[in-house]
Amino acid sequence: MPGRTTPRLGLPNLGLGVGLRHKHFPHIMRECCAVDWFEIISENFIDNYGYARHVLEHVATRCPVVMHGVSLSIGSADPINFAYLDQLKALARDIRPTWISDHLCWTGVASLNTHDLLPMPLNQESLRHVIERVRVVQDYLERPLVLENPSTYLEFRQSTMPEWEFLAALATESGCGLLLDVNNVYVSAFNHGFAAERYIEGIPHEHVVQIHLAGPTDCGDYLVDTHDRPVPTPVWRLYARAQELTGGVSTLLEWDADIPDYPDLVAESTQRQGTDPALRLPIELARLERARTEASRAKGLERHAQRPAADPLAFLRDESFAILAPPCLRLLDLSFPLKDYLEAFDRGDEDVAPPDPQPTRIAIGRMHYCVRMAELEPWQYAFVAAARTNASVHHCALSAAAESGEPLDSILARLMLWLPAMFSMGILAPET
Ligand SMILES: [Fe+2]
Repeated sequence: MPGRTTPRLGLPNLGLGVGLRHKHFPHIMRECCAVDWFEIISENFIDNYGYARHVLEHVATRCPVVMHGVSLSIGSADPINFAYLDQLKALARDIRPTWISDHLCWTGVASLNTHDLLPMPLNQESLRHVIERVRVVQDYLERPLVLENPSTYLEFRQSTMPEWEFLAALATESGCGLLLDVNNVYVSAFNHGFAAERYIEGIPHEHVVQIHLAGPTDCGDYLVDTHDRPVPTPVWRLYARAQELTGGVSTLLEWDADIPDYPDLVAESTQRQGTDPALRLPIELARLERARTEASRAKGLERHAQRPAADPLAFLRDESFAILAPPCLRLLDLSFPLKDYLEAFDRGDEDVAPPDPQPTRIAIGRMHYCVRMAELEPWQYAFVAAARTNASVHHCALSAAAESGEPLDSILARLMLWLPAMFSMGILAPET
């Protein structure tokens, strides 16, 4: 009996990303990336050491990158193409992607590449065939393979199971990850007449490590996965349900024809998430997770000389004294109280309900190489934020007083009680 799988196979929630496309190279090289992560089409960068590789290396030093391929042909009856896998491994060695994905499909036969992602017959024979091939590929790549559900326009008479059951068996038996393309589910559901919600609910959610969003073309009797327009409302609705069921996974907006200018693409990716609480929660969870990872890696207070314990708060009486905010300190202003939710997620608690919206401020520090999170009241947040500017303790206390509307003496009295906890969590320290 296989054990319970770690959500997302233990891979991080990277937040919101977009595809790295040639059209946007000048903007990305000139300005900041403006998204949390990028997905690349692997084939565009294999054996490419020109300007595109230069841009990719520039991006990869600034944010996570994921490799998404279109040539694996995992469903084909042809032998596995190990030369292609060697090329993937070489690219992965250089850019260190967070994961590598491709599609549940076949792209040709007898060494002919159709450059199309063709649908598979879905039955026990094809399932055993793909499971075996996924195992071989994963062993060769030395990492989990992540497979995307395709958009399809025909079905095979030989199919005996729905696609979500095929993917569920494939993921649980091979251990592979799933890239849930919510738009592809929407397109296939319309074209074949099944309930998209049933698909989203029927896959093993702990195997989903990424989601794709895109806009399809409505051709009347059928939908085509064109990636050339905004995401329609029904796809956003399915996406919200998927994020609810997965607990929040990395999300990528695909746009591959009539590509908008970069700022417009980023706006399409982020605006909806900002206004819909169901979409905002997983994104804020990703921010919190990322901040926690950053806090675990940045310089902390482990080597900071501690003040003698006799009167650790004596500096509060010295107006010029500075308070130290370590490089590992992270401050977040969130719309949900996510600290307990994330900790429950880490413990593997099941059936933890997502919290209701409530403005929440969190500080993350580190002590003895252990990351600590604290929820802050508004005056405490103002104090810590001021401390990050190397302000004197007096100035920090004035900021806190201004935020709360309380007199300075009252804030100083509160600091006497609260600051020792911040010191013990490695969020702040008295400067020595
Ligand atoms: Fe996709």
